[in-house]
Amino acid sequence: MIENILAFETSCDDTSVAIINRSGRVLSLVSSTKDLDHEPYGGIVPEIASRNHSMSLLPLVEQAFLKAQLNWKDIQGLAVTNRPGLVGALIVGVVTAKSLAMAYNLPMIGVNHLEGHLLAPFLRDDQYAPPFEFSEPYVALAISGGHTSLYLVSGLGRYQILGSTKDDAVGEAFDKFAKMVGLGFPGGSKVDQMAQSGDPQKYQLPRSMIHEETLDMSFSGLKSAAHRLVTELGPQNVQENLSDLCASFQQAVIDVLLSKLEKAVIKTKIKNVVVTGGVSANSALRQQVEKVAQKKKWTLAIPPLRYCTDNAAMIGYAGILHLEKGEKHGWDLGPSPQSWPEDFSR
Ligand code: KG4
Ligand code: ZN
Repeated sequence: MIENILAFETSCDDTSVAIINRSGRVLSLVSSTKDLDHEPYGGIVPEIASRNHSMSLLPLVEQAFLKAQLNWKDIQGLAVTNRPGLVGALIVGVVTAKSLAMAYNLPMIGVNHLEGHLLAPFLRDDQYAPPFEFSEPYVALAISGGHTSLYLVSGLGRYQILGSTKDDAVGEAFDKFAKMVGLGFPGGSKVDQMAQSGDPQKYQLPRSMIHEETLDMSFSGLKSAAHRLVTELGPQNVQENLSDLCASFQQAVIDVLLSKLEKAVIKTKIKNVVVTGGVSANSALRQQVEKVAQKKKWTLAIPPLRYCTDNAAMIGYAGILHLEKGEKHGWDLGPSPQSWPEDFSR
């Protein structure tokens, strides 16, 4: 029987290692994020991410064991993100997982990063547990730097995409906007902070596709409109009105996300709702989605920040569930920039 699993996440710039048990309890989670290495380039540089993973991964494995007060004899399996993501970054995790699985004679499974985000609400620790009796089916809004989609989750491995962004991911839009107004990279959390003292009604920005029935979304029009506004205002006005600009931009994004989420709930008639991915850290979004959930009597699960942003615990949980079903991958497992066709239905 699999009691504990060691998991790796290296799909983008965060290197993360976790040990978790079969009930989703996080025994240790250690991560290394080197935003400063990427900041001068205004975005993630894949080669730098890969080099950082190579240097950080094995020391993090040692830390994870120390923190959990466990050793290799307590581990019965390995899970690693192998898709989708930056191939050079994924390969570091995949090759390391394969080597360790071979050395310690353990079963290994490659996990879809997005499946990890979708299952993150089921993780638990001393401070967090999922809402009482929360279970499938549920509607999940997964919003991160690379992905923005609405899913219907009916069970393990049963994920239907209800709608997706046609262009930019929400986190990407936040990051590009932050760059435009001089807040640096990655700017989502800085926009969030600035917006807290701003007026969200001050600038009218477009809410693309908000009135359309489709659950697809688009954020490139908002980005272009924000760029035009920033250019018209000029650097001094932008600095003087920065919190209003951030609040107005942020509210345009939130309005679209909430409207599509509400439509998804109506369409599926499912009131169990998950919001996950790095952008679900946004404080205004959290407050507003909680308000809607209360009003509409949804059961809402938003994992805490440590499980919303990229982390190995969510990969471990997905991995342990698949391994328990008898699934595993062989030594031919490779990284893939995209999800596999069988991962999601439409
Ligand atoms: O899930 P994540 O850690 O990594 C990806 O898989 O992309 O998400 C990172 C994204 C970045 O674009 C970052 O700017 C955004 O999440 N983000 C936020 C906030 N915190 C992180 N966006 C808006 N408000 C925040 N508080
Ligand atoms: Zn992610």
